[in-house]
Amino acid sequence: MEFSEVNGLLHGGDYNADQWLDRPEILKEDIQLMKKAGVNVVTLGIFSWASLEPEEGVFTFEWLDQIMDSMYENGIYVILATPSAGKPPWMAKKYPEIMQTDRARVRHLYGRRKTQCNSSKVYQEKVRIIDEKLAARYAHHPALLMWHISNEVSGECHCSDCQENFRKWLKNKYGTIDNLNKQYCSKFWSHTYNDWSEIESPAPHGESAVHGLMLDYKRFSSDMLIRFVKMELDIVKKYNPDIPVTTNMYDVNCEVNYNRLADILDVTSWDSYPLWHCGTDKKSEWKKAVEAAFHFDFCRSLKHAPFVLMESTTSTNNHFEISKLKRPGMHMLSSMQAVACGSDSVMYFQWRQSLGAYEKFHSAVVSHNGSEDTRVFHDVVEVGEKVRSLFFIKNTKTWSDVAIIYDWENMRALYEQKNLRNHNQEYDVIMYEHYEAILKNYVSVDIIDQSADFSKYKLIIAPMLYMFKTGTQEKIKNYVEQGGNFVMTYYSGIVNENDLCFECWSPYGLNDVFGVKSEEIDSLCDDEYNQFTYNGKVYKAKFYCDLLNVCGAEVLSKYECDFYAGRPVLTKNNYKQGMAYYIACRSEKDFLYDFYHTLIDETGIRRIIDSPYVDSVMVKERADEESRYVFYMNFSVEQRTICGIQLAGYEVQLKKEKRILEK
Ligand code: GLA
Ligand code: ZN
Repeated sequence: MEFSEVNGLLHGGDYNADQWLDRPEILKEDIQLMKKAGVNVVTLGIFSWASLEPEEGVFTFEWLDQIMDSMYENGIYVILATPSAGKPPWMAKKYPEIMQTDRARVRHLYGRRKTQCNSSKVYQEKVRIIDEKLAARYAHHPALLMWHISNEVSGECHCSDCQENFRKWLKNKYGTIDNLNKQYCSKFWSHTYNDWSEIESPAPHGESAVHGLMLDYKRFSSDMLIRFVKMELDIVKKYNPDIPVTTNMYDVNCEVNYNRLADILDVTSWDSYPLWHCGTDKKSEWKKAVEAAFHFDFCRSLKHAPFVLMESTTSTNNHFEISKLKRPGMHMLSSMQAVACGSDSVMYFQWRQSLGAYEKFHSAVVSHNGSEDTRVFHDVVEVGEKVRSLFFIKNTKTWSDVAIIYDWENMRALYEQKNLRNHNQEYDVIMYEHYEAILKNYVSVDIIDQSADFSKYKLIIAPMLYMFKTGTQEKIKNYVEQGGNFVMTYYSGIVNENDLCFECWSPYGLNDVFGVKSEEIDSLCDDEYNQFTYNGKVYKAKFYCDLLNVCGAEVLSKYECDFYAGRPVLTKNNYKQGMAYYIACRSEKDFLYDFYHTLIDETGIRRIIDSPYVDSVMVKERADEESRYVFYMNFSVEQRTICGIQLAGYEVQLKKEKRILEK
């Protein structure tokens, strides 16, 4: 069975069945309840290593055989996990070297999960053995729909093996130690290395001053995690290349470069946990909805294909300071939001609430009372029915004319360096601000990195693209030259990919394209503002303010205060066939909405609907060749009306229309 062969969307979740192996009646009950809830898929075995290999070399697959078989007999498919995110205690006791060493060079004791060194030869060998056995046994099982490699891969290690691997990685990247010294500007504070063996990974009591090295360790760690996933993926593929492989992602600001991870996966998947109903605005969940949508759009854009919502809550999540019950309507709304943004599934962590340990109070479809007569169970049944009715959404696409560049390496560089602002770098928050402005204009948007193909977009927005990787300025130039619209902001084009400053006016190599040269950057304290006027309205300038010199651009607005009053703050430059905009400061959300509104009108970018923003209403679209499916989602508790459609508080409505749009 392949993912593409399932008729409709997936509905189900993590089923930690091995917690109830001494209670066979529970498995029977679960299957009955799953049917009632419209579940057509479960994810098995994520944390089952101790049940699969209770002692070294002793394997007990019989329980899993039985569960896989009964799932199949009952028409429920299985996403089968490799268990590498959680290891049994016997392993750490016998091979303490598998445990992760942190930045302070402390080797961890056994505990929690994902605390191993993924590069440890012993650990890899143990993973290889269990994966081979799993794949040999289940790769052709009729219930198997997809492989789920590990779980939310993350973590960095500083053990002696990792130090050696890091040195090899550097050698491979820089070739000679002289080249590394040059790229790291290592004469600074006399850090010149004579030999690779002198290099140590970053540490709180050691190196933290060489920005290139800090950044490279992040890249190295990401590469190691991706290599680990690839090792597992190759094993399961060997037994049946037709079964798609995924691994669940969860945070754009994490240790893995998801754009590169996605390159090796067949399908991307996301774990989504917005803290609904927490926060100051009790009437609207708009802010959380924007962030959730950003992550979904990001996950979809990784492969420009539908993704799997692998985990979400049925109600609460006990990992956070405070977690509130999902209010009536929110479960349907948040589930449909994922689908609206490109998910071909609605799945939960977890099917049945565990009786003890860390997640015993995390919500589940079936709670400790075991009953189907609960509010949450009813909510899930309702979502199950909805998911089943939306079979036609499966494999429909999202066509975006607009892309925002959110670049993992750029983010890592911003966060690892000593900067003009060393608190609240807020790369992600700044990203959400631009993203929200596009959303409010009811325009579809992709989230890409700087290595992506630019040519399919009419508008590309690059907030704080501080680092230009080799060739990026060329790409931007060609893109604008050939008719693209590009928005660049303050603090862009300053360093190369090794965090070494370009010897030029920023943005590097693009002064002719943007018609501006940034000379200095002022960083404002959190309570300070400059100001400017745009479209007759006065807006705040804050955070970073570039002091620009004009070399050809049209000045749309100027700073109005301080010694740089009169300098341009917003510019537009017609370069060859295209248009290049420069926003010199961070501003208010209303400015971005206003600015992009005008830009979208001027460039003729297609809106999903033609409506001004209606407070807290999000609109998303998926489409096939003939039809488009427009999701209207009200994240306010109050009623809203948009395009003549009345939406009750937290209501979502789907409208099907004939598709009249160019690709
Ligand atoms: C993550 C993990 C799950 C579970 C949930 C709880 O997403 O992948 O195993 O711990 O968090 O919210
Ligand atoms: Zn290690």
